[in-house]
Amino acid sequence: MPTVLLPVPLPDFLREPLATAYECVTQPDPEARAIVVPGGFTVTESLLASLPKLEIISVFGVGYDGVPLAPCRERGIRVTNTPDVLTDDVADIATALVLMTSRRLAEAECFTRAGTWTRSAFPLAHALRGKTAGIFGLGRIGKAIAQRLSAHGMEIAYHGRQPQDVPYRYCSTLVALAEQSDFLVIACPGGPSTKHLVNAEVLAALGGNGTLINIARGSVVDETALIHALQNKVIRGAGLDVFENEPHVPAELIACENTVLFPHVGSATHETRRAMAALVIENLAAHFAGRDLLTPVC
Ligand code: NAP
Ligand code: 8YV
Repeated sequence: MPTVLLPVPLPDFLREPLATAYECVTQPDPEARAIVVPGGFTVTESLLASLPKLEIISVFGVGYDGVPLAPCRERGIRVTNTPDVLTDDVADIATALVLMTSRRLAEAECFTRAGTWTRSAFPLAHALRGKTAGIFGLGRIGKAIAQRLSAHGMEIAYHGRQPQDVPYRYCSTLVALAEQSDFLVIACPGGPSTKHLVNAEVLAALGGNGTLINIARGSVVDETALIHALQNKVIRGAGLDVFENEPHVPAELIACENTVLFPHVGSATHETRRAMAALVIENLAAHFAGRDLLTPVC
């Protein structure tokens, strides 16, 4: 039985089948031939160095920003992730954040529960129809968000490293996208190449009628600049599913009335997490049987 390292707790529907097929360990073990980690988990180079027999890293998530690909390629360590099966759920959460921030739905719910409705009317909010959603990172999830927001009557613009053959307006810089957007929706990968790309300049370009939505990775946003922009009404609001230092959410963001904050629940449904788990299990089985991987990153 190959040894598989599970460095952090995983849901039963993933851990139990793994424990049936493999010798699962929770501490670095020089015999480990595979690791299973959640999306965004940082696989340090020292962890890699402590696993001389490592053959495969299976990420239980689509984002592999925590996996150092260059040393993996050098050592011939394969990496897999779980794309596609979570796209719809994450796009739904992005859409929910757009609706919640624009229509002030979290406040409206508290207002009703608190009985305030008997004394005053809830303030007017903002419509989506005719507004522009600027999508930073028009990949699988970005496209699914674009489809959903188009159905709400929004115009779609996007920025990525190159234009694509899509019926949406391309902006060659992130600042230009922010200037044109009522909602700037982040859907690109995390990691060094996108770290803090959403900075004070981008937030100023988004402006006082603009809202930032982030379902990608907290690392893409300079959180200090975001807090300053929210506190000083440089932007109207923010809807965030991800944070720079999860599960820590800065007290300043919690104190802001113009934020909607989720605990990284983009893919958190029974159906999707089970489909992600199945991909992890099938990728490992394919690797150890010498078959092609289902969803290889490298
Ligand atoms: P994807 O299909 O690879 O799409 C990523 C898009 O970002 C690509 O279209 C790419 O377009 C663009 N991009 C990549 N690097 C970029 C860069 N340096 N600068 C600008 N644009 C860049 O990935 P996906 O499946 O849509 O997932 C996107 C991300 O969502 C994941 O990496 C993950 O971090 C996050 N996520 C979050 C949750 C959650 O629970 N909140 C769940 C799943 C995924 P170009 O190549 O044209 O630049
Ligand atoms: C999950 C994610 O939170 O897929 C990703 O990149 O961030 C999310 O789906 C995570 O991977 C669950 O393990």
